[in-house]
Amino acid sequence: MSVRGLLNVTDLSVDELALVLSLSRREPASLGRPLTSSTGVSLGAALIFEKPSNRTRHSMEMAVVQLGGYPVYTRGEEVGFDTREPVEDIGRMMSGYHGLVAARVFSHSVVERLHESCSVPVINMLSDESHPLQGLADALTMVNEFGDLTGRIVAFVGDYNNVARSLGEACIMLGAHYRLACPTGYNASDSELSRLSSLGTGSVEQTNDPVVAVSGAHAVHTDTWVSMGQETEKAERLGVFGAYAVSQSLMSRAASDAIFMHCLPAYRGYEVEASVIDGSASRVIQQGHNRLHSARGVMAFLLGVK
Ligand code: CP
Ligand code: NVA
Repeated sequence: MSVRGLLNVTDLSVDELALVLSLSRREPASLGRPLTSSTGVSLGAALIFEKPSNRTRHSMEMAVVQLGGYPVYTRGEEVGFDTREPVEDIGRMMSGYHGLVAARVFSHSVVERLHESCSVPVINMLSDESHPLQGLADALTMVNEFGDLTGRIVAFVGDYNNVARSLGEACIMLGAHYRLACPTGYNASDSELSRLSSLGTGSVEQTNDPVVAVSGAHAVHTDTWVSMGQETEKAERLGVFGAYAVSQSLMSRAASDAIFMHCLPAYRGYEVEASVIDGSASRVIQQGHNRLHSARGVMAFLLGVK
């Protein structure tokens, strides 16, 4: 049986999610050095990237260091999941070198197979389905802002993708009302909406109309219209998503003290107007910095820190 990992936010129970957020707020020194052996030697953390990264690589590397470990960055083509050797051979091999393995992959099934074959915790650093580290940082940022997400309205405008899915999981587990505004064909299916609504005390609604989703919202999120790996669909997507930009005019429909959030990287003039992302409602820099704190919190949790 594989050890606990983080492939989706829902790998945590509601209580465990609260614990991870609380661990994320603690001073690093108070967490001990769970990535250090009993004889004081740093344990490795394999960080494997099939796609580019700024925030995820830097926050994970620094969080590993803060937990007493030694990060080993590797590009996906060097290990070659299923091209150079099977995912399962890589998982079994990495488990002998490292105290933790994390991967950013194209196909979610690769990180699932890695999890099944590793005897150390595996963390999904973004797949086509899920971006749980982002969902945790988004939740931490909103909890820091509002104190509690119960009853808060969180809107996501744009593509129902990896980021929107992980954000929705975290929001509903923490009691928020999650409102999606997505174009047809790029929205959540009915079964996905039912799955989300079963995760906690929060709720989910979906519309095609960004104004409906954003009305009275306390936080407004968006993400790129063209995710990594979708570059060939760029022209089509820019056409489909044109009415889903988060503008000053759209933000004026939200609560008067609403915040704007984006996982980054952002494309000004497409999914968000520059005046919004660079304005006073924007929390994108804190959100990105919280990637470090939440990465440290969830790794501490997976390594047994209470
Ligand atoms: N938000 C996020 O995952 O950023 P990077 O792709 O830069 O890691
Ligand atoms: N949805 C985006 C998120 C980038 C952090 C992507 O998958 O490219």
